Amino acid sequence: MNPVKIGLLGLGTVGGGTVNVLKRNAEEISRRAGRAIEVSHASARELNKPRICDTTGITLTSNPAEVVDAPEVDVVVELIGGDGLAYEMVMKAINNGKHVVTANKALIAKHGNEIFAAAQKKGVMVAFEAAVAGGIPIIKAIREGLSANRIEWLAGIINGTGNFILTEMRDKGRDFADVLAEAQALGYAEADPTFDVEGIDAAHKLTILASIAFGIPLQFDKAYTEGITRITREDVTYAEELGYRIKHLGVARRTNGGIELRVHPTLIPERRLIANVNGVMNAVLVKGDAVGPTLYYGAGAGAEATASAVVADIVDVVRALTSDPENRVPHLAFQPDQLSDLPILPVDEIVTAYYLRLQVEDRPGVLADITRIFGEAGISIEAVLQKEPAEGETSVPLIMLTQRVKEQSMNQALAAIAKLDAVTGEPVRIRMESLG
Ligand code: HSE
Repeated sequence: MNPVKIGLLGLGTVGGGTVNVLKRNAEEISRRAGRAIEVSHASARELNKPRICDTTGITLTSNPAEVVDAPEVDVVVELIGGDGLAYEMVMKAINNGKHVVTANKALIAKHGNEIFAAAQKKGVMVAFEAAVAGGIPIIKAIREGLSANRIEWLAGIINGTGNFILTEMRDKGRDFADVLAEAQALGYAEADPTFDVEGIDAAHKLTILASIAFGIPLQFDKAYTEGITRITREDVTYAEELGYRIKHLGVARRTNGGIELRVHPTLIPERRLIANVNGVMNAVLVKGDAVGPTLYYGAGAGAEATASAVVADIVDVVRALTSDPENRVPHLAFQPDQLSDLPILPVDEIVTAYYLRLQVEDRPGVLADITRIFGEAGISIEAVLQKEPAEGETSVPLIMLTQRVKEQSMNQALAAIAKLDAVTGEPVRIRMESLG
């Protein structure tokens, strides 16, 4: 049988890794897929750049449309990134009747509903394992491995760059900017690294995970997104004293009123496995009603780790080339006409516990005033820690952990607390999840 021909859009970190993995493991891959797989065409913005892969035998062009239009190409692998040219090329590939594999989380999170509808109509597959958590086969695990379950919640460290920064800051006291520059040099960070540190990249990925977990359309615009730029060394230390680690977490939870979809720094008990996921590693914890909690761990970024997921998708597509399009695994795990309209909850409606740090005057009655406000708002306090004043200061840091409460109630209580004379500066608030 003739080899399946791949047209690669993008020959950067992941594109180069994909060429290398496909070449190195060609024999094993073809034994798995049932056909040989070869990259026949590839596009790159700059053709004469030094690359991590050997492109001998590949027809190269700087025009991705030539790859998408090449009649020999069976599967288009989109590794351009972003949702401009990549969107255009993926839609063109689908219209040309070609299957698509993509690592592009922004594209799927923002345009997936439209892309999958177009693919369905044309009878082609769009595979996107590499879009979430790099090399971890989390899409496959949720979409197929957990299909017996009603998924209750999932929580993940799904941005390697952010986790690398938080880990280096905690373990080595390194500077934020310095660690970010290293993540960029290692090829972990997004082209625009604010996507990593402001939580946008994680929100793209969480949006995708929530859709396949709960059977809802992709709704990136409704995800609550908060990054790690305001995390201070002080909070990392106090959290540790209380037995917690601060991680940048994506949380999706099914509640009676709708779905919580949120990305933010989060205190997690340090005894949880996921609290010990460090460096560029990712992990996703998924709670199904039948299986209970399951944890998936691995490299969330990097050339060959991400290529591992890209190539696995190519193998899946090759295996299903001759299958009846109506009987393939649905893109979003649930049959397209069976998606639910459960609303995504506004952040005010989410329910979570909190770590709070207030700067307060060290005098009698201050704590009583604060606890009265919390009591009136129905907020239960779990722990209080008062630190020594800094040299020459009369105010002290007061750290409090609360039990779970609706975000709206916490906002109201904090607004009242911020008005107390004894409270200086803005209260710091970091959400907290037990993940039990
Ligand atoms: N910038 C992403 C990360 C790459 O750091 O996780 C993988 O999606």
